[in-house]
Amino acid sequence: MICTDLIKAIESIAARYEAQQVGIVSDAAVVLDAVTSRYPTIRIAVSEEDKSLETVQQIWDFLFAHRITRRGLLICIGGGVLTDMGGFAAATYKRGIDYVNVPTTLLAMIDASSGGKTGINYGGLKNSIGCFAPPVETLICPDWLKSLPANQWLSGFGEMLKTGLVSESSLWYHLLRYDLEKMDSEALKPLIAQCVAAKKRIVEADPKEEGLRKVLNFGHTFGHALEEISIQKSDVSSPPLLHGYAVVYGMIAELYLSVVKLGCPKEPLQQLTQVMLHYYGKPQCKCSDREALVALMQQDKKNERTAQINCTLIQNIGSPLINQVITPEEAHEALEYLFSL
Ligand SMILES: NC(=O)c1ccc[n+]([C@@H]2O[C@H](COP(=O)([O-])OP(=O)(O)OC[C@H]3O[C@@H](n4cnc5c(N)ncnc54)[C@H](O)[C@@H]3O)[C@@H](O)[C@H]2O)c1
Repeated sequence: MICTDLIKAIESIAARYEAQQVGIVSDAAVVLDAVTSRYPTIRIAVSEEDKSLETVQQIWDFLFAHRITRRGLLICIGGGVLTDMGGFAAATYKRGIDYVNVPTTLLAMIDASSGGKTGINYGGLKNSIGCFAPPVETLICPDWLKSLPANQWLSGFGEMLKTGLVSESSLWYHLLRYDLEKMDSEALKPLIAQCVAAKKRIVEADPKEEGLRKVLNFGHTFGHALEEISIQKSDVSSPPLLHGYAVVYGMIAELYLSVVKLGCPKEPLQQLTQVMLHYYGKPQCKCSDREALVALMQQDKKNERTAQINCTLIQNIGSPLINQVITPEEAHEALEYLFSL
């Protein structure tokens, strides 16, 4: 839910638990002293590389050290890396305790912190270990966005664009009209609310991603491969791609396939390409190794058969089609298109 008074909202949920049964795991980049001074807190420096079993162990150790029982509550304050890991730690600690998400990045607000997907990266694969465990509540306060760097705004906005493309054309056109230069969190609030509501509708209809929820994976088959390879090949001169950037590039490839395979009108591809070139730039990372990208897509956990590449494509804005199998040749063609822009 979108809150006007975050502290009051957290306190009213925490009040349902014994005070000594409430713990907090917080992203080290954010401060919420009014709450963290009241409950035991572990602060974690967060990056995609830290989204690991070792960090989850730190959270388990913290919960054990504070003798949190199965009736306890973990409050997870941070971006998507933190809420994914905090949720996974809570879901597995003593077979599962309650947790609340307080997302502090745009991406976590509109996507990562709701819907119950939790997990870590493992074996070089993103989010390859995890479970479905919905938070008791997700408390969204767009004021956090005031301290968020521009590239993180863009990363979150990438997932908002995806929500628009798979859910409804009015949301898509509102998003295209939003002035990203200004990064005005107040003006973004109604769009955040619409994206959250769209995701909620989809997740409630299919909480375990057996069908409909796969529409939210639009852009993610190519996006995850680009993100993973950019992590593997990153160095000082070439940082890894942020998740939402990878999703934007992934959507370009998947919109291209939507046009070629399903006859989707070219307009959304042209519009997204303009947004990409204006705000995100071309993929700059060392992620253009086509063979490696296709091999990664063949290992994607969304595939139902080994080595088969499975995508969500769209027939038009708001009309997604799940379980679209694409051949390695088609994947290469879509990558050629993306890297030719
Ligand atoms: N569970 C899901 O359904 C789901 C959906 C989408 C993405 N994800 C996951 O989310 C992760 C990405 O999340 P993210 O984009 O939030 O990245 P992130 O969690 O890495 O946060 C980005 C950076 O911003 C910092 N930060 C957090 N809040 C801040 C604030 N208010 N001001 C300034 N800095 C702040 C963080 O410390 C970090 O350095 C990925 O691991 C992805 O797999 C999960």
